[in-house]
Amino acid sequence: MLLIVKDSYEAMSREAARVVAERMRRKPNLVLGLATGGTPLGLYKELIRMHKEEGLSFAKVTTFNLDEYIGLPRTHDQSYFYFMRENLFKHIDIDPRYIHVPDGMAPEIDAHCEWYESEITRYGGIDVQILGIGANGHIAFNEPGSSLGSRTRIKTLTEQTVKDNARFFKNMAEVPKTAITMGIGTIMEAKEVILLANKTNKAEAIRAAIEGPMTAMVPASIIQMHRKAYVMVDKEAASKLTHTFTG
Ligand code: GLP
Repeated sequence: MLLIVKDSYEAMSREAARVVAERMRRKPNLVLGLATGGTPLGLYKELIRMHKEEGLSFAKVTTFNLDEYIGLPRTHDQSYFYFMRENLFKHIDIDPRYIHVPDGMAPEIDAHCEWYESEITRYGGIDVQILGIGANGHIAFNEPGSSLGSRTRIKTLTEQTVKDNARFFKNMAEVPKTAITMGIGTIMEAKEVILLANKTNKAEAIRAAIEGPMTAMVPASIIQMHRKAYVMVDKEAASKLTHTFTG
């Protein structure tokens, strides 16, 4: 695992974009795993800038998003599909046929999850997976207690996650309580993973993930087992690490 501590959110985002762009230049048909949430927004902004100013092309790239709320149509402004379109896809030259976001309105959710897994395999597996982290240590929507070998499936969100997400909805009742998420096993099969975290509210989760014991109660701690993982954080998110000199 390579821990990279940057002075600011912007510097962390630029570093993540630099690595992703380098992989894309080396392999134009890269299979890129994407995450939602506030954390990767800076990375997406930088990739859009590179596309517009430096000719970085997504034309042959395939994407797989980590997760999606169950029950929200793609037109809902809080669906992850909508988020990805607004914050990345509509600004770059990606081929819509190569975009994959789990469908929260799929009539047969289990069959859809199986199909999602088989699509990832059909494209040769994920080359680079972007990850955020929940304050409780979750990755994608793999909440504490999720099997470390899990595959794409339905998960019920914890009360904490529902509360964390409530700020985006009119009220708590509107926040979806279930989601489709790639499993921890699915994520671990990505050839490289880049976990991003910023701000002090992620410091404890980052400490537990990197320096704590590997446990299903902190799903992100599985990253300790990954062959090629980058953890990119700002100073605030690194502030509780005890084995690292962060300046
Ligand atoms: C949600 C997403 C996660 C994301 C997390 C943190 O739960 N399913 O993929 O990592 O939120 O979001 P943020 O980056 O906004 O803190």
